[in-house]
Amino acid sequence: KIVDAGGKYVLPGGVDVHVHFRDPGLTYKEDFSTGSMAAAAGGITTVFDMPNVQPPTLSVENFQIKKKIAEEKSYVNYGIYAYLVNNLDQIDGLIDAGVCGFKWDLSTFDWELPEGYYLPDNNEAADIFRAIAKHDYVVTVHAEDMELVKNYTEHLKEEGRDEKDFYSHVEARPDIVELSALYRTFVLSEVSGCRVHITHLTSKRGLELIKEFQRKGTPVTSDVGPAWFTFSAEDYEKFGGGIRVIPAIRYRKDSDALWKGLASGDIEVLATDHAPHSNDEKFNRTWWDTLPGTIGVQTSLPILLDRVNKGEITINRVVDCMAAQPSKIFGLYPRKGCIQPGADADLTIVDMEKEWTVTHEEMYSKTKYTPYDGFQLKGKPVMTIVMGSIVMEDGKIVGKPGHGRMVNPKQEW
Ligand code: DOR
Ligand code: ZN
Ligand code: ZN
Repeated sequence: KIVDAGGKYVLPGGVDVHVHFRDPGLTYKEDFSTGSMAAAAGGITTVFDMPNVQPPTLSVENFQIKKKIAEEKSYVNYGIYAYLVNNLDQIDGLIDAGVCGFKWDLSTFDWELPEGYYLPDNNEAADIFRAIAKHDYVVTVHAEDMELVKNYTEHLKEEGRDEKDFYSHVEARPDIVELSALYRTFVLSEVSGCRVHITHLTSKRGLELIKEFQRKGTPVTSDVGPAWFTFSAEDYEKFGGGIRVIPAIRYRKDSDALWKGLASGDIEVLATDHAPHSNDEKFNRTWWDTLPGTIGVQTSLPILLDRVNKGEITINRVVDCMAAQPSKIFGLYPRKGCIQPGADADLTIVDMEKEWTVTHEEMYSKTKYTPYDGFQLKGKPVMTIVMGSIVMEDGKIVGKPGHGRMVNPKQEW
């Protein structure tokens, strides 16, 4: 088939290194097929899927369960993360089996690990970081100490604070919860030599700290998602649970700094933290009990294209933060004798002139709710090509489940 891309831009396919497609076990929220259709519709050709599913991806055995499902269902290429827990004995096996990286949540929140598993303290984590560093893999770190969040939330409840008083919420205290997580990560990187990637950065001060440590030579990179630079604390009143995410969206000064950081390259990567929940889990609960997360994989590239049209970021930088940087950091870039994913035609064709309005109905996710509903954007992906096959054309999914294949840093292309 000959594609006429006249008047359009042909870009490398987007790589989103932080999505939750909920397979296996939580498929009432999303599954690998609906999630990857949303990715294809958004011009994303590779996703890295997070391990907080049932059973959680923390062993070779559980990794294989998820891999089989992704193989059958995914429309786009995918990497599969493993958890970093007390699983030192699984690290080599997981890398052999093909994980794309390791996710460290630092501390517990309200999910449970299977019997015998727990989040390691620094002593134990150091050994695991060393084991991962041996392979030159990256540890991706949740930019927040959730134990501190949990304790502070309990404290607020005991004080009888109004649960609608969003501003009083601990989640507007990045000075404690984010900086604690960052310092802890830098210590472990220093003693192990392991590369670390801070995901969903939320604050101005957090970004400054990362730059400080980069200057000192710490091998750290970071990403931010559209929710954290689009919205800020003033928007809680309007959106309620719709923009409740963890780590929380902070103040306007933070979202502005995050946007500046992304546009300039100080924050290397854009990643969405696409995290669907049922409407019941998002909207029928008090603020405290609303499950955190919002969808985003279908709207991230359009949001950036719109900002290109507004002159706020260059198209080259969009390609950099959505394809080149994630590929480099996570080892999908060409090495000697290897071909990169884009080289077998992972492409997205975008129409920079197209004006359109985001709607819930257009979302391929099982959870249709998107806080971007009603956003008027200029610029849209009109075709997504994965390994030479068209998977999305004019917003319609025309690919097949099972077309995508697994990617990771060690495979030969
Ligand atoms: O908002 C979030 N939702 N943040 C996370 O770290 C987890 C995610 C989820 O799995 O729902
Ligand atoms: Zn996270
Ligand atoms: Zn996440």
